[in-house]
Amino acid sequence: MIQPWFEGAKLGIFIHWGIYAVEGIPESWSFFNDQISYADYIKQCAGFTAAHYDPKEWAALFARTGAQYAVLTTKHHDGVALYDTAENDLSVVKRTPAGRDLIAPYCEALREKEIKVGLYFSHLDWSRPDYAPVPVGERTNKTLNSASFASWEGGKDNPAWQRFIAFQRAQLTEICTKFSPDLLWFDGDWTPPHEWWDFDETGDMLRRLLPDVVINSRLGSHGDYATPEQGQPIARPQGPWEFCVTMNDSWGYQGRDQNYKSVREIVRLFAEVVGMGGNLLLDIGPMADGTIPPEQAERLEAFGAWNQKHHEAIWGTDAGLPAGHCYGASTLSADRTTLYVFVFDRVVDGFAVKGIRNKVKRVSVVGGGGDDGGELSFRKRGGAEWMNVPGVLWIAVPDAVLDPLATVLKIELDGELDLWTGAGHAITAN
Ligand code: GLC
Repeated sequence: MIQPWFEGAKLGIFIHWGIYAVEGIPESWSFFNDQISYADYIKQCAGFTAAHYDPKEWAALFARTGAQYAVLTTKHHDGVALYDTAENDLSVVKRTPAGRDLIAPYCEALREKEIKVGLYFSHLDWSRPDYAPVPVGERTNKTLNSASFASWEGGKDNPAWQRFIAFQRAQLTEICTKFSPDLLWFDGDWTPPHEWWDFDETGDMLRRLLPDVVINSRLGSHGDYATPEQGQPIARPQGPWEFCVTMNDSWGYQGRDQNYKSVREIVRLFAEVVGMGGNLLLDIGPMADGTIPPEQAERLEAFGAWNQKHHEAIWGTDAGLPAGHCYGASTLSADRTTLYVFVFDRVVDGFAVKGIRNKVKRVSVVGGGGDDGGELSFRKRGGAEWMNVPGVLWIAVPDAVLDPLATVLKIELDGELDLWTGAGHAITAN
């Protein structure tokens, strides 16, 4: 059973922060893919200062976006922990000038702002010789060939693998007991095969430690919600879900990557995800000193200002109309009597919404202000109302009311939404 807070949250901020920000190279994958040697990758530890890390400022910024939760990497595939693990000394505490635990102050700052605490943890660990990333013989990659990783012989009973599982569970226990996160965001469960991980046992352990924790889907079948990533869903995923996506093309900080989504794109993405009943987990990649890059901070601020103006159309709503009723995303108020429609483009002939059987009481622009409260004129055209086949609702949306990012129309109905979704038929009584 998913925690109700998660489904109502709508927006979370994902944070990929680690030593990879020093050179601005891909998190962990850069050595896995031989872009850099493992030794040079780890040398980045020397430049990871966290000198300007101000989690209270982060939390205040997240709060301004409207985000209800955030998820920070406690340990990515590279194995470098952002907290003081007793399991090894590969942590920013012991190996970098940052020299301290970065997770506890983050949790505290979020909680002060009533933002739920999410922690990311990579099951796999490419710094741990006991971890078996690829069966011997299939290791084509230079870095991993030269590393002394455990073999796959003996399957999951291989003593090295058993040691690895014990290590992984010990670190997870630390994370649960030190920080009591509201959400655990797992990753890196793809090798070795799922049976090796005994995720049922890990899941039981986590639920014992934190009975109310929300767990993403990357823990075998023990997760609470689906995590489509980067490719925006076309069809609505089943059950609770969250779409995680980068602002540019990188999870972590990579200064050269300026391929940023515009604020308009982010707003649109968000409206489309929420309109299909999901949450958006929008990623940022802080620099090695803890600064959120200006390109990212600016986008969060502008996105937040739009969210503030359109708050009622997002928070407290459910998924809106299924595809086919209008060219845009929509949400429905909890009492199902108000539809919010997100308009992304200039409207030339009027904005059309099909299939609404209800009487429409009023249509207005959210945040429209003015003497008329942003009221818009509308009419229904066509249909055969006497046979309960509704006409098309046409709403006049003059340029003057358009929001530069996305305009939200509020359609107030005479009762709970009564939707016609038929394929049409002959009208037998005129
Ligand atoms: C992928 C990548 C990883 C990233 C994650 C975020 O699984 O391996 O680098 O952290 O996606 O969803």
